[in-house]
Amino acid sequence: MNIIEKLRDIVGERASASPAERLCYSSDASQVRGTPDCVVRPLSTAEVSSVVELAAAEGVPVTARGAGTGLAGGAVPLRGGIVLDLSGMDRIVELDLSNLAVVVEPGVVQARLNERLRPRGFFFPPDPGSAAFCTIGGLIANNGSGMRSVKYGTTRNYVLDLEVVLADGSVVRTGSRTLKAAAGYDLTRLFIGSEGTLGIITQAVLRVAPLPKARRLVIAAFDSAEEAGRTVAATFAAGIVPSACEILDRTTVAVLRRCDPTLRLPDGDVLLFEVDGSEGAAAEAAAEIAALSSTTAASVAVVAGAEEMEEIWAARRLVGAAISRLDPAKSRIYVGEDVGVPIKEIPALIREVSEISDRFGIPAMKYGHIGDGNLHVALFIDVLDDGEWARLAGAADAIHRAAIRLGGTVSSEHGIGAARSEYMNEQLGSSALSVMRAIKGALDPRGIMNPGKLGLDDGPSPGGYG
Ligand code: LAC
Ligand code: ZN
Repeated sequence: MNIIEKLRDIVGERASASPAERLCYSSDASQVRGTPDCVVRPLSTAEVSSVVELAAAEGVPVTARGAGTGLAGGAVPLRGGIVLDLSGMDRIVELDLSNLAVVVEPGVVQARLNERLRPRGFFFPPDPGSAAFCTIGGLIANNGSGMRSVKYGTTRNYVLDLEVVLADGSVVRTGSRTLKAAAGYDLTRLFIGSEGTLGIITQAVLRVAPLPKARRLVIAAFDSAEEAGRTVAATFAAGIVPSACEILDRTTVAVLRRCDPTLRLPDGDVLLFEVDGSEGAAAEAAAEIAALSSTTAASVAVVAGAEEMEEIWAARRLVGAAISRLDPAKSRIYVGEDVGVPIKEIPALIREVSEISDRFGIPAMKYGHIGDGNLHVALFIDVLDDGEWARLAGAADAIHRAAIRLGGTVSSEHGIGAARSEYMNEQLGSSALSVMRAIKGALDPRGIMNPGKLGLDDGPSPGGYG
């Protein structure tokens, strides 16, 4: 009996080895490719457990997948085997708001959770650009974040407890429903950001936060992106913590305007500072930021209208797709797109990225969560030109190395997957990577959980770009 028949015994028709399905599951939103041998759509923890138990017995790799919005190949089955599509496990199991908690399955889409929470006066703060379609399981597996982590923290700060299926099919709970606990190793955090290499998340207890009563948006335009970067550092040093702090460089602003000519964004390299809290606190913080920015900015404006703020945030969310308007002959390729540095190094990172873009002749647009030191560099090429692919790879590599040299990270929120695994040793150091490998060996001795990721094992690299 081959494996697909055994999988059908567990999930029936929700297991498939059809060539079309295998092709559909061979990529995410990155350039990494790998074709699974079969695709399984479990609907319960018991089914996930049985599938993993079978995979362990057969020595077959298992790769978990949510919405496939990943930008590092985390959900791509590099060594074949089984893709577990968890998007069908999408129940919001419980709202436990007196405990500031919700219980969800991994396939719940971020925006759907927030739609449920909003009328009750709460929200789940991690807010990535892909909030409308990304799943909670993927956010946890990659420690995703987005616009509001500068004040509220990343997904890591909102997970109280996980149910995880381990590599032998057994099921563990990593935490508890309490808002704090001091009971041994923090297993919950071990699984956060582990990208499916240690186990499969089948349920999560998340902490939620009360919705702020008021918000303001300060929009400041600068003569250079570096000047904008220096202003971010000065704002933080003055003890002001905005709820979001984004940069849109002048090219990004021009592209957004091309999509929507009525969009009210000024010329120049723009910072968006959002503040929130009570009416009084939000107004006061906005005034403080505006006053501080006005010493270096070419223009500063404060937006208080909810509708206008929402228009600007909606445009910001679309930016990744909007970039295609820059030059119809070129496409944006997501490589080297998620570097992060300590706040004081932001101007240096911006300078280096511009220099790398010039040196390799690959145009770059810069935007992102600059209040976290996180810059999304958008590189463009003509995908029909092999020479441009090679220069793109060189530019992305130089951007990653610059971030590490500045004391930063090759990924702030998108994850390592296979796309950035070659930098793990350089960024973490061999001792820290050895500790990670020891943990991996203890929990997954046969190496079946999402092999080829996070630089944990030596094996075929993702095989270049394209
Ligand atoms: C964003 C994604 C790219 O911030 O992380 O839009
Ligand atoms: Zn982002």
